Amino acid sequence: MARWVLVGLVTDFPEGEAREVVAEGRVLALFCVDGSIYALDGVCPHQGGPLGRGSLRGCIVTCPWHGWQYDVRTGQHQSIPSLVHRSYPVQIRDNQVFVDVDS
Ligand code: FES
Repeated sequence: MARWVLVGLVTDFPEGEAREVVAEGRVLALFCVDGSIYALDGVCPHQGGPLGRGSLRGCIVTCPWHGWQYDVRTGQHQSIPSLVHRSYPVQIRDNQVFVDVDS
């Protein structure tokens, strides 16, 4: 069952930038790419680096600790095909950004 949690306003997530938020005790990484907002688990599965403080180029975020890269739209690791990092559905309602933390 979905559990939509408010994580901020659309303006809190500028185009081309990464942001870290904590929602319901989970660290999330949010990204705005081409006007759409995407959410990944904010903890890099390599050694726990903060993906929400990574650099975003196009739809690819680079972890600030050791450079692992993920497609923020899908969580797909860019050099390990079997590794898909957890992503979360995002909804925009009345300029507010919600993430389904239970999906
Ligand atoms: S912790 Fe993210 S690349 Fe190492």
